[in-house]
Amino acid sequence: MTIAEVVTIDGPTASGKGTVAHKVADALGYHLLDSGSLYRLVALASERAGVDIADVETLTDVAAKLDVKFGPDRVWLCGEEVSLAIRAEAIGNRASALAVHQPVRDALTQLQRNFRKLPGLVADGRDMGTVIFPDARLKVFLTASVEARARRRYKQLIDKGISASIEDLLRDLEARDLRDRSRAAAPLRPAEDARLLDTSDMTVEQAVAQVLAWHRELGAMPGGR
Ligand code: CDP
Repeated sequence: MTIAEVVTIDGPTASGKGTVAHKVADALGYHLLDSGSLYRLVALASERAGVDIADVETLTDVAAKLDVKFGPDRVWLCGEEVSLAIRAEAIGNRASALAVHQPVRDALTQLQRNFRKLPGLVADGRDMGTVIFPDARLKVFLTASVEARARRRYKQLIDKGISASIEDLLRDLEARDLRDRSRAAAPLRPAEDARLLDTSDMTVEQAVAQVLAWHRELGAMPGGR
């Protein structure tokens, strides 16, 4: 059996990993896993159900029973399209808060691994290279200065018609970074064999070109793909 190749793209909030992963997946004709959206879906579903952010048992239950469907650029929760609802900053912050709990993470592990299908997968998140796909063939860790990331996130939100302030975004980004890096469960860090890419002064196209160049360097998958 041929096992599908995985390219992991990890990095902090608003480092551009989502956009880069999307374009790399398109260029390679691979499937895409936006793992952050799963944490955001748990955040939205649990908020709607009135679950307290400290109630790990119920949060884990929500994660384990997540009724979710993915389509190109769209996602449904219990049959309702929530593509925009999960992008709200408040949901991102709630996602980051519940992602510190190991049982919640464990409940999402298999769901994430199920995305690995032929011809291949590009997976973006925090722990794709370290925990979920430790055998990935290419691991990329994207970074960018906090200012560059705040500017990008601002533009992203405004483009979607969601109001935002740069000052609030900077503060939220720093808080979320700190929490993601210092948590005990799957902290945000590059895998030992990850390639680092600082995109502060790069366009999306340049970042995508670099990842594709690294991918080409690896050559064909052993076993034919
Ligand atoms: O947009 P942003 O990069 O902040 O967030 P995201 O990738 O959509 O993920 C939302 C939150 O889920 C992050 O702040 C992380 O705390 C958490 N997360 C995680 O713990 N592990 C992942 N593989 C992906 C996201």
